[in-house]
Amino acid sequence: SAPLHEAVKQLSWLLGTWESETAKGFFPTIKPFEYKETLEFTHVGQPLLNFSFSSFTPDNVPKHRDSGFLRVNIGTNHVAFVSAQNVGIVEIEEGDVNGTELQLESNGILHSSFASLPHTTKIARAFKLIDESTLEQTVSMATTTTPELKPHLSVRYKKV
Ligand code: HEM
Repeated sequence: SAPLHEAVKQLSWLLGTWESETAKGFFPTIKPFEYKETLEFTHVGQPLLNFSFSSFTPDNVPKHRDSGFLRVNIGTNHVAFVSAQNVGIVEIEEGDVNGTELQLESNGILHSSFASLPHTTKIARAFKLIDESTLEQTVSMATTTTPELKPHLSVRYKKV
């Protein structure tokens, strides 16, 4: 397999397959819920990581899916999270990796004409490595009916 590109060494802590230990969802307008998620980060030697998120209900019914690329602006710690979601959304988030923390904010979200309402207007996401086999992700969002960023997801993963 190809060696890890120099530009993504700063993201190597994300590589591998992660399974949720706890995954919780909330938002002011919905009932809090629990779910399961598998998250994969891989590479083929390019200055980017490939990712895919697959979420499921607690009894394994497939739900939200999300896949794309985490691209590095070579020579910097600035990254772009380029993602397509099965709910009919594509989005780009950007932010900086600092040590084993990555903070991202959307700079564009596009919905298909028949994506369900409300539409998402902003996404803020953070990844943080807790120890070498434990990763956390939090996702906040704003929508057309909830205009301030509010927490939607909080996940703690174990490396498998
Ligand atoms: C509800 C967006 C990820 C499960 C919602 C709503 C939006 C949304 C806009 C409607 C909120 C409202 O009615 O005010 C997103 C975005 C995500 C994401 C942008 C990723 C960046 C997930 C994931 C799950 C999930 C990973 C895991 C199963 C739910 C559930 C609801 C919901 C259960 C409430 C029931 C429903 O409307 O289906 N989400 N979501 N979401 N989301 Fe997410």
